[in-house]
Amino acid sequence: MAMASTQATAPTAALPFSVPLAVPPVLSPVRRTLTTDYYAIMTRQADVEIFPGVTTTVLGYNGLFPGPTIRAFSGREVQVTHVNTLAEETVVHLHGAHVQTPSDGHPRDPIAPGASRVYTYPNRQEASTLWYHDHAHHREAEHVYRGLAGFYLLSDVNETLLGLPSGEYDVPLMLRDARFDDSGQMVFVMGDFAGRGTVLVNGRPQPYFEVAARKYRLRVANGANERFFSLRLSDGGEMLQVASDGGMLPAPIPATSVTLAPAERVELVVDFSRYPIGTQIVLENTYGATDASKNVMRFDVVRGARDYSRVPDQLRDPLPDLGAAAVTRKIVMKLNFQTGMFELDGKTFDMDRVDQQVRLGDTEIWEISNPGVLPPISHNLHLHGVHFQVLDRDGIPVSGHETGWKDTIVIRPGGTVRFKVRFDQYAGRYLYHCHLIDHSGMGMMAQMEVAG
Ligand code: C2O
Ligand code: CU
Ligand code: CU
Repeated sequence: MAMASTQATAPTAALPFSVPLAVPPVLSPVRRTLTTDYYAIMTRQADVEIFPGVTTTVLGYNGLFPGPTIRAFSGREVQVTHVNTLAEETVVHLHGAHVQTPSDGHPRDPIAPGASRVYTYPNRQEASTLWYHDHAHHREAEHVYRGLAGFYLLSDVNETLLGLPSGEYDVPLMLRDARFDDSGQMVFVMGDFAGRGTVLVNGRPQPYFEVAARKYRLRVANGANERFFSLRLSDGGEMLQVASDGGMLPAPIPATSVTLAPAERVELVVDFSRYPIGTQIVLENTYGATDASKNVMRFDVVRGARDYSRVPDQLRDPLPDLGAAAVTRKIVMKLNFQTGMFELDGKTFDMDRVDQQVRLGDTEIWEISNPGVLPPISHNLHLHGVHFQVLDRDGIPVSGHETGWKDTIVIRPGGTVRFKVRFDQYAGRYLYHCHLIDHSGMGMMAQMEVAG
């Protein structure tokens, strides 16, 4: 393939595991009151070092790639003033957050070039790994690709008291891919899944991470536009899944591989104390077709450490029973061969059209099908403003992190997924869409009007 020969001579052909993992800095509030933490973030173009000695121009929140991490606590409000210094409109969405519509980052609420907007996050939800990213109309795919994404880590009392690994042992990992040209610049082409052959972790290619021989909490987010990851440790070692998109799992679930579609998050506890110091373990993506996309990062066990953290057998109360469904909705996700557009229920996105009328407080069952079999294209569905409980996939109950609170779920070619959701958060107009965001940028997005 042309891409492979290009990369062999490019400055981007770094040796695997030659750059250290970078962890995005935690942003400090500009002001705190009794109830609220205030932040300011500037969206700007920036030159960063992704490959050693090579400058790459990106879009970054505060110029960082990925953006700074916001740490929030359930019950304390956060207000973020986003300043847009780009020459085009931006929109900021906090993925997985339960927020009022004016702060949800609807594409009808853009931030004009040079303008700013205040987003209010009430944080009246459980501890979870959220992420914020751009949602500009028709531009979200390119904006996120060029770097407009960051972590938002929400804690609560229950999660804090669990005693999971914390501080430097609580590490967010944003996985994604990209295509680079010979000068190390990012190349964006809509739908260019095959060209994006370089996998990045927190903005660096195949980094190594020096760890202590103890437990770590790894908060893994798939920040790729289209790539799926199926993660395993190269020795087949166990990873404990402790949280899904929307919060802690009721109990840890051991796994030797974990699959993440775009926008999904999973929290894993890995105990490196089982390895002798000097061991190197690669985090592999078994879906990767080349070494560059198969070997995601490497953990180097370099020192001993005390470990007072623990993973209790019970992490939370069982998920609540959402009750009987008032409505069952059927949603169809399919590529339209005639137009080349990605459609939801035979339509492309129109922000002036309401696609579903939902009654505030109702529990519903959504049945999502992906009838396209050739070519086999997976989709996933993400709902803004709520979390849901997955009932089954092709009639079979789901397992692993998919049994927890979810806001994004994969629908395989020819497959059907059912989930139950209670719209008990806020009234207003919210989006739902495929989170292979090149697809949503090409139409696979719709909206629901939640009304009392
Ligand atoms: Cu990650 Cu519409 O969202
Ligand atoms: Cu979202
Ligand atoms: Cu899709």
